[in-house]
Amino acid sequence: MPDGQEKMRRGTTEDDITAEVLARFAATPDPRLRRIMLALIKHLHEFVKEVELTETEWFQAIEILTEAGKMCSDKRQEFILFSDTLGVSMVVDLIGHRKPEGATESTVFGPFHRLGAPDMPAGGNIAHRDTAGIPALVGGRVLDLDGKPIVGAVLDIWQAQTNGLYDSQDTNPDALHMRGKFTTDGEGRYLLRTVQPVNYPIPSDGPVGAMLKATGRHPWRPAHIHFVVMAAGYEAVTTHIFDRIDPYLESDAVFAVKESLICDFFRHETPTPEAAKLGIIGPMLTAEFDFVLKPAGAAAQANLLDAQRRLAALGARA
Ligand code: BEZ
Ligand code: FE
Repeated sequence: MPDGQEKMRRGTTEDDITAEVLARFAATPDPRLRRIMLALIKHLHEFVKEVELTETEWFQAIEILTEAGKMCSDKRQEFILFSDTLGVSMVVDLIGHRKPEGATESTVFGPFHRLGAPDMPAGGNIAHRDTAGIPALVGGRVLDLDGKPIVGAVLDIWQAQTNGLYDSQDTNPDALHMRGKFTTDGEGRYLLRTVQPVNYPIPSDGPVGAMLKATGRHPWRPAHIHFVVMAAGYEAVTTHIFDRIDPYLESDAVFAVKESLICDFFRHETPTPEAAKLGIIGPMLTAEFDFVLKPAGAAAQANLLDAQRRLAALGARA
């Protein structure tokens, strides 16, 4: 035995082990990593001791994580689903995007964003293959904190189809559908044509679904449309708008609903003049939502694009 090791404390109690593990990580050179590792060990050990985790439960946890890993592919990201359904994604989001009064609040990114949504003109239809849904026109402005319009802001939009599936979950997973990038006009306005958003269950055929079932939770998300709104010189916001009448607003499976993001989708039995010009016939819906961006340096924008690229690299598009 090398010199000195005999003197090392031998772990006889749970707390001895915790102390020794903390001591071994205490010299981590990077200060941020040191802080994260020490807090992780402290809380993880506290958790195990608090619930008095049994060996069977410990093994079950290993099996669950193994199964989650095996489920991940270019079509599925089970770990993001765990993070979302445990509320961790929303806590990270809140810490990372504290907003001044009046700025649009952010919410979870989710696993269904895809890079490469097509650029669309004002009034462009993101739902061209969705014949089952009620047509909807969604429009509004992108503004700064003083209420001035932001010209040339880009809105990257994605939405589930009326069958409750994202394009990447459906029969032709490589074809982009229900996605588009819109640019605001000289008055900061955007306008998109889509269909009424629907509520849908998050994928629940894996360990996340098993967790929801075993804990008496449902997998449903209230009807929403996803937006990333970006403009040079402003902090981009990743958010959704939610339909005010949805029954799952109070129990979103991923805890993403914020009061300020709830929006009215008004029903019209005949198309509005704007809708008629776009060729919409029959009953339809309109919704208005203004996005307000706070000024930011380039770093915030770079962070967002990095998050999108990392997600795409994980292949987490379904
Ligand atoms: C979504 O809204 O696309 C979503 C968000 C979190 C988990 C699953 C889906
Ligand atoms: Fe969604």
